[in-house]
Amino acid sequence: MQKIEAIIRPSKLEDLKAALENIQIRGMTASEVKGRGLQNNQKQYYRGREVSVDLNPKIKVEIVCHDESVENIISTIINSCRTGKHGDGKIFVYPLERVIRISTREEGAAAL
Ligand SMILES: Nc1ncnc2c1ncn2[C@@H]1O[C@H](COP(=O)(O)OP(=O)(O)OP(=O)(O)O)[C@@H](O)[C@H]1O
Ligand SMILES: [Mg+2]
Repeated sequence: MQKIEAIIRPSKLEDLKAALENIQIRGMTASEVKGRGLQNNQKQYYRGREVSVDLNPKIKVEIVCHDESVENIISTIINSCRTGKHGDGKIFVYPLERVIRISTREEGAAAL
């Protein structure tokens, strides 16, 4: 199993959820986060004063899935979240050690 973590534009969340539904991916966690990539390091000024770098609002979507689904999910994220401009976000993929469904005590693939 793997965990896919995608940092996306907030405006793309609804499109992404619909696209994931189309490929039968239902389980996910979405959080409001703040972040920056390479571009947001310019100095910003507020009332004439230089202020520290701003973090932009983003949405983090986490999906745990079977190994075989990873590439399909990555393409689905790219197809629904890409504008081709800076700030489209990033996808991080992690190997996942254990999954346990609390209600049934099922583990692993059966718990997804
Ligand atoms: N190295 C990183 N580590 C953790 N989070 C990151 C990293 N780079 C980007 N992010 C997250 O992804 C969000 C979007 O990043 P962004 O798409 O601007 O990346 P980028 O490297 O600047 O690429 P781009 O040229 O497409 O803008 C950031 O706001 C941050 O939340
Ligand atoms: Mg950027």
